[in-house]
Amino acid sequence: MVNVAIDGVIQKAEQNELLVDLINRTGTSLPHVCYHPQLGPVQTCDTCMVEVGGKLVRACATRVADGMSISTKSAWAAAAQVEAFDRILSNHMLYCTVCDNNNGNCTVHNTTKLLAIEHQKIPFRPKPYEVDNTNPFYRYDPDQCILCGRCVEACQNVEVNETLSINWEDPNPRVLWDGGSPIGESSCVSCGHCVTVCPCNALMEKTMLGRAGFFTGLRKPTLSGMIDIVKGIEPETGYGAILQVSEAEEAMREHRIRKTKTVCTYCGVGCSFDVWTKDRHILKIAPEHGPANGISTCVKGKFGWGHINSEDRLTTPLIREAGKFRAATWDEALNFVARRLSEMKAKSGPDSLAFISSSKCTNEESYLMQKLARAVMGTNNVDNCSRYCQSPATAGLFRTVGYGGDSGSISDMEKAGLVLIIGSNTAESHPVIAARVKSAHKLNGQKLIVSDLRENEMARRADLFLHPKPGTDLVWLSAISRYLLDNGLAHMKFLDQWVNGLEAYRKSLEPFTLEFASRITGLPEETLRRVAHTIAEAENTCILWAMGVTQHTQGSDTSTAISNLLLITGNYMRPGTGAYPLRGHNNVQGASDHGAMPNMLPGYQPVDDTEVRKRFEAAWKVKLPSTKGLDNHQMVEAIHQGKLKAMYLFGEEMSLVDSNANYVGDAFAKLDFFAVQDIFFSNTCRYADVVLPGAPSLEKEGTFTSTERRIQRLYEVLEPLEGCRPDWKIVQDIANRLGAGWHYQHPSEVMDEIASLTPMFAGVNYDRLEGYKSLQWPVAADGTDHPLLYTKSFAFPDGKARLFPVSFLPASDQPDANFDLHLNNGRLLEHFHEGNLTYRTEGIREKVPDTFVEVSPELAEERGIQSGTWVQLVSRYGQVRVRALVTDRVQGRELYMPMNSVESPVNRLTSSHIDPVTNTPAFKETSVHLNVLPEVGESPLPRANSRFGHPTPQQGVEVERKWKRPDYAAPGNGLVQL
Ligand code: SF4
Ligand code: SF4
Ligand code: SF4
Ligand code: FES
Repeated sequence: MVNVAIDGVIQKAEQNELLVDLINRTGTSLPHVCYHPQLGPVQTCDTCMVEVGGKLVRACATRVADGMSISTKSAWAAAAQVEAFDRILSNHMLYCTVCDNNNGNCTVHNTTKLLAIEHQKIPFRPKPYEVDNTNPFYRYDPDQCILCGRCVEACQNVEVNETLSINWEDPNPRVLWDGGSPIGESSCVSCGHCVTVCPCNALMEKTMLGRAGFFTGLRKPTLSGMIDIVKGIEPETGYGAILQVSEAEEAMREHRIRKTKTVCTYCGVGCSFDVWTKDRHILKIAPEHGPANGISTCVKGKFGWGHINSEDRLTTPLIREAGKFRAATWDEALNFVARRLSEMKAKSGPDSLAFISSSKCTNEESYLMQKLARAVMGTNNVDNCSRYCQSPATAGLFRTVGYGGDSGSISDMEKAGLVLIIGSNTAESHPVIAARVKSAHKLNGQKLIVSDLRENEMARRADLFLHPKPGTDLVWLSAISRYLLDNGLAHMKFLDQWVNGLEAYRKSLEPFTLEFASRITGLPEETLRRVAHTIAEAENTCILWAMGVTQHTQGSDTSTAISNLLLITGNYMRPGTGAYPLRGHNNVQGASDHGAMPNMLPGYQPVDDTEVRKRFEAAWKVKLPSTKGLDNHQMVEAIHQGKLKAMYLFGEEMSLVDSNANYVGDAFAKLDFFAVQDIFFSNTCRYADVVLPGAPSLEKEGTFTSTERRIQRLYEVLEPLEGCRPDWKIVQDIANRLGAGWHYQHPSEVMDEIASLTPMFAGVNYDRLEGYKSLQWPVAADGTDHPLLYTKSFAFPDGKARLFPVSFLPASDQPDANFDLHLNNGRLLEHFHEGNLTYRTEGIREKVPDTFVEVSPELAEERGIQSGTWVQLVSRYGQVRVRALVTDRVQGRELYMPMNSVESPVNRLTSSHIDPVTNTPAFKETSVHLNVLPEVGESPLPRANSRFGHPTPQQGVEVERKWKRPDYAAPGNGLVQL
C-alpha cells in the first residue's frame, strides 16, 4: 500500500492500481464513460481527465505511484472533462424520458447530470447510417452510439469472437460487424457481451424496446413528436429540468421492473445474472456480478428464455386413460402416483421401482428425489444423467486424486501457461469458459493444444491441433506419459512427495512407445514429442475434457490417463493447474453430489458403509437399503428383463438422450407404471401414465452446483405459471402421500439438512450463499471453501495421489464394409442438447432451425452430396433422415451430428455399448451407412448463422487510430500520458 492525495485528502492506495478504481473506491465523483472494470482501460472518451503533478492524464489509464497528488476538480481537469463529454454528446440524442435505457444505469444520462451539463456546445449530428435490426435479439442504433468502444473491447478481448471494430479513419465512424456486414449476416454469435457493456441505448436487447418505459411503447410518430418537444424546450430550460422529468419517470419504473438474481439453466459454467422482468415479460438478462462469468454469457443464457412463457408449457397434470391423456387435478394426479408406487412396491418389492433425478433441477430437488427413493420407497435405484457423460471423468478422478470434481476454478484455466483441451467443443458447449481461454491465449500468451475429431473453433485457434483416430486418446496420452518419464521430463520431486504407485504405473506404460501410439492414433511421432515437450516446458498446465473422452468404452480409463499425465508432470496443487472435466448440464455436478446415484448417499458417501447409513437412518428415522441400486443403463435392461416395473422421472428427456433411443423407448413402453414430471410434454412423456407439470429454474428457489464445484443460489424470478409447481414441492407431496411426513417450507431447510448429514457440505447454508455469494465445495463447518481443491493433500487417507495403470482396448463399434463411416455427435452453440428448451426461443430457431449431419468436402464429392441434400443414416441400431451440411470441420469418412433434434435424434443411431467401469454408453463409438436420398433442400444452416460470418480480429478498440485522426485533439490542450 502507498499514500496518495486525492483533491488534497491523503488516501491509502495499492501500488499500481488504476487511478479510476482508487477514485471510485474513495467515493470521489469522477466522470468516466468508456471505462468498465471488467474491460480495463479503453481510453476512448477522455472524460476521466485528472491533473497529476501538473499534467493532465486519463485516470483510467494511469497507475498509482507512491506520493502521487491527484486533482479531480482543478479548473484544468474540469474543463477537459466537460470538453470531452461535449464531444460525446454530439454523437447522442438525449431523449431520456422516452428511452428504454432510462433505468438509472445509463452512463450518458448520469454523466450529463454529474457534470451539470445544461446545453450541448457541439450540436448533435446524426450519422448517415440506418438502425440495424437484423439480429433477432438486439439492435444497433448508430445515431445513439457514442463511439466509446466498450462493445468492441468486449467482443474482441473478452468474448474473443472478434466481430466488432470501429472504422476510426472514416469521416463518420461507427461500430462495424465483420467490417461492415448487417449484424444478422455477420460472425456475431449473439453472446450479448456488447449489449451488456454498452453504456447507453445504442445497443439494446429487443425485449427491452418499447417495454421498459412508461412512454416508450408509443407509436413512432408520437414518440418522435415527444422527442422534438423535449429538444425544443432544451435551449430555454437546459438539460437540468429535462433530466428531472426523466428521473421521475425512471423512479416510476423502479416499482414495476423487478431485478432478480438467477443462475443459468443451461450448461455447467454456472453463469449468474439478474433477470429484469415486468410482470411475466422478461425485459433482459443483466450479467455483472457472477463469480464465474462477470459480464459474460452466451446466446442461451442471455437470450434463450423463450421456454418460460411458451404457450405449450404444461399447466395441468395429465393421466392416461384408455390410451389417451386427460387433464387431472393435482390431488388426483398425486394420489394416483402415490397409490401406484405403493401398489408396485407391495406387489414386486422396492427394487421393482426406479427414480431418475434431473441435472436441470436444483440440488435440493435431487436430494429429495434420492431421499424419496431410499427413505420412503426403500430402494437405491436412483440415478441422474451424469451417467451419460460425467461418470467416467468422476471415476478417473476418484481413482487418482480422490474427489470427483474440477480440481480448480475457471480462474485457474485463465492462469495456466498451457491449456490442453481433449474431446471438448468448448467454444460451443461451455462458451464462457472458452472465452476465458481464448482471451488468455490472445492477450497473455497462453499456449493451447486441442485434440478432437473436428476442427472446431478452439482447434482453429490452437497452437497445435491433434486429430487422432476415433477412440484413441488413451494411447497418445499414455505414450506422452511414458516419453516424459523415460526422458527425465517428469516432475520427480512432486512424484516423490505426493504420488503413490509410480513403479506399477511405469510398467503399465511399457506398450505405449511413440511408434505404437503413432500407429494406433495416426498422429506423427514428432507431433507427440512436441506435445510432450510443450507440457514439460509449461510452468503450469490445465487439461479440459468432456464427452469426446467420456462417451467411449474407455471413458473412465482415458480420464484416468489424463489425471495420470497431470500427476507425473506435477500439475496439481498449484494455481493454474489441474483436471477439468467440463460438466454439461447446469447442475449435473450437483445431482450426483446430492446423492442421485445408485451407490452413493449425498456427498459421495457409499450406501454400503454401515457408519454412513447409520447417520442417515438416525436422521431420517428409517432403515436404509444397503446394496447398490441400478444405474440408469441397468434400469433399461431391467425393464426389458421384467424386473423393473415402475419409474418416476423428472426433468430428464431420457427417451432421446440415452443411447440406443429405440431400445430405451421400447423399455419405457413395457413399464407397468411411469410418472414423468416436466415443463413440456416431452418425448418421454409419450410413454407416461401420469404427467406432472413442474417449474423451470426461473420459477423456483434452490441452488445449482457448476463445473467448478461452485454452489450458487437461484431466486424465484416469477411465480410458477398457474397450474405448475416447483419440483421440490411435487416430490414432497408424493413422499407425504406415501407417509413420509416431510415439512419443508423452503429449499433452505433442505440444504440445512444436507449440511447436517454431509461433511462435504457441512458449512453450506443459504445465508452464506446470499445474492451473488457462492461456495466451492468441500465447505468446512466454518464456511471455508476450496476454490483450489488440493492444496495441502489429495483426498486419500495418506494424503497422496495414486497413479492408476490403464491399458488400451479398441473401440466397441468399428466401421466395416456395411457401416463404413464413423459418426461423432455432440452439442452446438445455439441449442442445448435435444433443444426442448431452446427451440422455444424464436431467435435461436432462426439461427439453427433443425439438426443436420456434417459431411466432409471429400466425402461430399465422392457421394455427390451438397449442403441441403437429404441423407439417411443407418446404424446397427436404428436410422434417421437428416439434411447434410458440407463443412471442412470434419474430415474424410468422419461425420458429426449435433444432438438438437426431437424428430431425428442422433441417439436412434447410437448403441448400448458401455464403459464397463461406469456403464456410461459409448455414444461416440457409432458406425453408420449413409444413403443419399433424391431430395435436395435448403442448407440446414441459414445464412443468418454466425458460422458464415468473417470475423475481423484486432487488438481491441485500437484507440490509437482515433488519436491519429486529423480532427482529434486531446481535451484540455495538453494531454500527457504518464
Ligand atoms: S459476438 Fe455479437 S453479441 Fe457477442 S460481443 Fe460480438 S457483436 Fe456482441
Ligand atoms: S454501441 Fe458500442 S461504441 Fe456505441 S455506445 Fe454502445 S458500447 Fe459504445
Ligand atoms: S449456457 Fe453456459 S456459458 Fe451460456 S450463459 Fe449459460 S452457463 Fe453461461
Ligand atoms: S474513462 Fe478514461 S478515457 Fe474513457
